[in-house]
Amino acid sequence: MLKIAIQKSGRLSEKSLELLAEAGISVANSDRKLVAQASNFPIALLYLRDDDIPQCVYDGVADVGVVGENVLLETGYALDVVERLGFGKCRMSLAIPKSEKYDDVAWFNGRKIATSYPKILQDFLDRSGVQADIHHISGSVEIATGVGIADAIFDIVSSGSTLLSNGLKEVDVVLHSEAVMVGKKIALEQEKAATLEKLLFRLQAVQKGRKNKYVMLNAPTASVEKITAVIPGMKSPTVVPLAQDGWCSIHSVLPEGQIWEIIDQLHSLGAQGILVMPIEKMIL
Ligand code: PRP
Ligand code: ZN
Repeated sequence: MLKIAIQKSGRLSEKSLELLAEAGISVANSDRKLVAQASNFPIALLYLRDDDIPQCVYDGVADVGVVGENVLLETGYALDVVERLGFGKCRMSLAIPKSEKYDDVAWFNGRKIATSYPKILQDFLDRSGVQADIHHISGSVEIATGVGIADAIFDIVSSGSTLLSNGLKEVDVVLHSEAVMVGKKIALEQEKAATLEKLLFRLQAVQKGRKNKYVMLNAPTASVEKITAVIPGMKSPTVVPLAQDGWCSIHSVLPEGQIWEIIDQLHSLGAQGILVMPIEKMIL
């Protein structure tokens, strides 16, 4: 039984469970007990506080864990990133009151910065040659300047609304983070390693599906060549004749991030009835 630590509640917990569900793994645990077994896959979930996950994996209490890179870095455990999970994207930034004039990072010299991530911040300050006073608090970092316990904060920024509503502006992005699966690759016994491999295969299929769209369109047979050049697809696009003479239907897979650009091109090449659909799983 492969033991996977995931966040009990908070930023990553729902998305972690969603990913497992899309990988066909059912875990019934309405009351979020500490441990829950999947009914159709040899894994058990350990629900933990995110800050405790790296140590838990490092000590072998769990075999792998789902955690933000920011937490992994802050705790400093030497673990392997087994898989990047593509959700929980955020940045870690320095922010100061909106009214302050800011030129560069030297602004922080001699200032007091509140954060829950003292290690990551200290590393950044050292790299930047800045001497500042780090004030370590465990939560509600965003109110630190307002209540006068710090001149600036260093915290997670996702939408930016927390900064905005606290009268702060982001002045330096220190790092980007997302959810990752961590573990110690060499430490796994054979059976667990096989389970992990099977799990990763599924997670990758779900993630590839999320990053791509299935596209169908109708096109005059005369433009098929030009259109297929714009949409290469997984191997090559499927082209099927329509009942109406001189027309084809073309099916392909396109990367989510380029969809609109490609649709504009398809449109100008005479494509009609363009349908864009989500892909649930994608195995190459
Ligand atoms: C983080 C951070 C901010 C907020 C930023 O807190 O401390 O409060 O998210 O997100 P935004 O830019 O979308 O407003 P989190 O939700 O992780 O809770 P925690 O600080 O209690 O761990
Ligand atoms: Zn937290």
